[in-house]
Amino acid sequence: LLKLGVMASGSGSNFEAIAQAIADQQLHAQVNVLLYNNPGAKAAARADRWGIPAVLLNHREFESREALDEAIVETLRQHDVEWVIMAGWMRIVTPVLINAFPRRILNIHPSLLPSFKGNRAVEQALAAGVKITGCTVHLVVPEVDSGDIIMQAAVPILPNDTLETLHDRIHTQEYCIFPKAIALAAQVQPPSNA
Ligand code: GAR
Repeated sequence: LLKLGVMASGSGSNFEAIAQAIADQQLHAQVNVLLYNNPGAKAAARADRWGIPAVLLNHREFESREALDEAIVETLRQHDVEWVIMAGWMRIVTPVLINAFPRRILNIHPSLLPSFKGNRAVEQALAAGVKITGCTVHLVVPEVDSGDIIMQAAVPILPNDTLETLHDRIHTQEYCIFPKAIALAAQVQPPSNA
């Protein structure tokens, strides 16, 4: 059983898809804690409904990214987390977090990396006029959106797409690949005590 800690900044629909995949026994894991950084993030209400402990670490109350990451590591350790799942986590993370969970932090990004790194990836793809975009689950390294790719799904951009219709279509694919990518990454990278 993989012990997950999920980090989310906003809606948390990917977090919900992971919780659902676990409930459906498609992913053999448990979510030990949800970490969120924005008071009122919908992700927290979802955690309540699943009976998953939710911990708010408001980045505005920390003096540096490193200080926030130290608190994150402490919280994840308190909850016995082995795999860190960044599901719509909108803060840049530092080696303080990355080195605490070597090759055990996954992020989902709404583009086919290495295209459209960084913020507003869906907008970037629309603006570029590409006809195919998608989503990527990758390992987290200090350079943003640059770690080894675990899984991707392609999504067509249709002529009348808006940011919303396109992001909806990408989200659907994210819900599909994220649970599978977690299982795959864990297969390749067995527990540190194995
Ligand atoms: C997802 O589309 C995810 O790929 C993206 O934020 C959305 C979160 O949705 N992540 C990034 O842009 C990371 N830079 P959710 O909160 O409903 O899961």
